[in-house]
Amino acid sequence: TVTVLSASCARSAQLLFNKTKSVEYTVCNETISIPCFVINMEAENTNEVYVKWKFKGKDIYTFDGSDNRSTHDSAFKTSGIKISELLKGDATLMMHQSNAVPGNYTCEVTVLSREGETTIEVKYRIVSWFSPNENILIVIFPVFALLLFWGQFGIKTLQYRSGRMDEKTIGLLVAGLLVTIIIIVGAILFVPGEYSVKNATGLGLIVTSTGLLIILNYYVFKTAFGITSFVIALLIIQVLVYVLAGVGLSLCISACTPVHGPVLISGLGIFALVQLLGLIYMKFVGSKKCIDNPPNEKI
Ligand SMILES: *[C@@H]1O[C@H](CO)[C@@H](O)[C@H](O)[C@H]1NC(C)=O
Ligand SMILES: *[C@@H]1O[C@H](CO)[C@@H](O)[C@H](O)[C@H]1NC(C)=O
Repeated sequence: TVTVLSASCARSAQLLFNKTKSVEYTVCNETISIPCFVINMEAENTNEVYVKWKFKGKDIYTFDGSDNRSTHDSAFKTSGIKISELLKGDATLMMHQSNAVPGNYTCEVTVLSREGETTIEVKYRIVSWFSPNENILIVIFPVFALLLFWGQFGIKTLQYRSGRMDEKTIGLLVAGLLVTIIIIVGAILFVPGEYSVKNATGLGLIVTSTGLLIILNYYVFKTAFGITSFVIALLIIQVLVYVLAGVGLSLCISACTPVHGPVLISGLGIFALVQLLGLIYMKFVGSKKCIDNPPNEKI
C-alpha cells in the first residue's frame, strides 16, 4: 500500500497542462491572450489557487486566491486572468497589446500542495497593411490623375486663353498646387508597412486630394469652354467613382487587415481613367467647340 500511496502522491503533486508551444500576435491584435490550461485543476474554491505569470525571471502577474488579490508588474498594468474561469483550469493571461513584449512567458499554478508550470513563447509577426502591389497602385493612380489635371490646366491656359493669367486661372493654379502638396504629403505618410495612424492618415489625404480634383476639373472646364453635357457626364462619373473609392477607404481604414483594397484601388483607377478622358476631350473635342463659339468672357 505504501507504493500505491507514493505513486498516487507523485501523480497528484503535479498539475498537468494542455500545452501550447507558442502564440503569435500582429499589430491587429488589440488584446493578446497567452494560453495556460490546467487539465487536472480539481480545485473547489479559488482560495485554494495561486497563479503566477513570469517573464524573463520577473513576476509580472500574480493572483493569490487565499487573499483574493492580484498584483501586476508596472510594465504589465493591463495584464490579468479571468478569475471566474480559474476553477475550470483556465489561467490564460490577457493584456493590451501596448504591454505585450515578445518572448517566453511562464505560467505557474499552485492548487493547495499541487503545482506545475508551462512556458509559452509569444512571437510578434509583422503584417503589411496593403500588399506591395496595392501600395504602388494606391499612390500611382491619384498621382496620374493629378498629372492629368495639370495637363488639362496647361491646355486650358495655353490653348484657350493664349497664356493669359486671369484671376480664376491663378486661383486654379493655387488650388492645384495645394492639392499637389496634399498628395505628396499623403504619399510620404503612406509608406508601406504595418497599419498605423500615420499611414492611415496618408491614405486619407491621398483619397481626399483625389476628391478635390473633381472640383478643380469643374473649374478648369468652366473657365476653358463652359460646362457641356459631356463634361457633366464626366463629373458625375467621377463623383460616383469617388464614392466607390471612399467606401473602399472606409472599409480599409476600419479593418486592420483590409480585404477591400481592390474596391479602393478600382475606384482610384477608374477615376484616373475618367480624368484621362477629360484631358482627351479638352484637347480635341473641346478645342473644336471653342473655335466654333469662343468662350464667354463673363464666365
Ligand atoms: C491574435 O489574433 C489572432 C486572430 O484573431 C488570434 O488567432 C491569435 O491567437 C491572437 N494572438 C494572441 C497572442 O492573442
Ligand atoms: C474576490 O473578489 C472579488 C471582487 O474583487 C469578488 O467578486 C469575489 O467574490 C471574491 N472571491 C472570493 C472567493 O472571495
